Amino acid sequence: MTAAPRQPRRRDVIAAAAVLPFVPADLCAHAVAAPASLGAVAADKGILFGTACLARHIETDPAYAALLARECRVIVAQDDLKWAALRPAPDRFDFTRADAVAGFCRRIGVPMRGHTLVWHEALPSWCNGRIDVRTAAPLLATHIATVVGRYRSRLHSWDVVNEAVDLDDGRADGLRETPWMRALGPSYVALAFELAAAADPSALLVYNDFGICDASPKARAKRTAVLRLIDRLKAARAPVHALGIQAHLSTSMTFEGRGMTDFLNDVADRGLRVMITELDVADDTPSLGNQDARVADAYAAFLDIVLPHRSTAACITWGLSDRYSWLRFLESTPSHGDLRPLPYDDGYRPKPALNAIQAAFARLP
Ligand code: XIL
Repeated sequence: MTAAPRQPRRRDVIAAAAVLPFVPADLCAHAVAAPASLGAVAADKGILFGTACLARHIETDPAYAALLARECRVIVAQDDLKWAALRPAPDRFDFTRADAVAGFCRRIGVPMRGHTLVWHEALPSWCNGRIDVRTAAPLLATHIATVVGRYRSRLHSWDVVNEAVDLDDGRADGLRETPWMRALGPSYVALAFELAAAADPSALLVYNDFGICDASPKARAKRTAVLRLIDRLKAARAPVHALGIQAHLSTSMTFEGRGMTDFLNDVADRGLRVMITELDVADDTPSLGNQDARVADAYAAFLDIVLPHRSTAACITWGLSDRYSWLRFLESTPSHGDLRPLPYDDGYRPKPALNAIQAAFARLP
């Protein structure tokens, strides 16, 4: 029988922020001059601030590493803990890059977040046709025990299951058709949380999803489907502790305070914390000019709704500088090369988005 899930308090989620970053001199040499770090301003208001990054960028770009060290109280491995990075072959794990991110976190004195144990993307090609009724459960069990076990007691939190809801797939329970779903049925979500809790009983375990931030009917329907999933997980006594709201925003989105606050209340009533896990803003009309102002306005509009909620414990951006934003490489996004979605520009100069995020923290009581 599974133990009753721990109810995390805001204190649990931000406890990591109490670690004072130790920034080595070689990283400080490149630090940009800015008034106060986002991490410090957020921590003052009880919010854990951080960002996602790749081992490659930490290793090759000391100025960027310094910026991360200066601003962040938590770091997420953006790609280096995904299956595609860790699992070169069915019988092999390669932790080189994941350990590089973990080592960086240790050097700058902040915890790492794990992303992500179960997802339908970033699976290595050897998985094609190999995830079936017979193999899926042992594959998941080995993966989760090995990966979570390696960083046991050292990670801030884990995105255990990523993007399991997709209403477009037409299932009554709202779940996405994925290789894990086809092999194991809907219970694969609870199974993943149980495996993660068994491998690291101290980790904060997160369900993470996108498309639940704005006022569109589609986002409203998805929020309801995510709540239903949380209800089923709670009914199965699965150890889920927080909801990760990815928050890949765009400038054409409108945000509704009431609908989102109701949703956050519903999440809190179920005993879960909320973490903004992948915040960035894509501009839908970069050719119009004034992109930086539109992007900053979207940050402010969203954060002013979500940050003040009692359940919100963390705010994590998906990168710090436009130079490395994943959106620049996303060909499905219009004019992706022209996007300026993050708080710092290509030369690591602060942008209006940075001021907007800082101001949103500062407005918190
Ligand atoms: C993205 C990374 O940023 C890219 O580097 C990679 O090429 C593709 O994945 N939702 C998620 C993240 O949960 O893992 C995705 O990250 C962005 C969308």
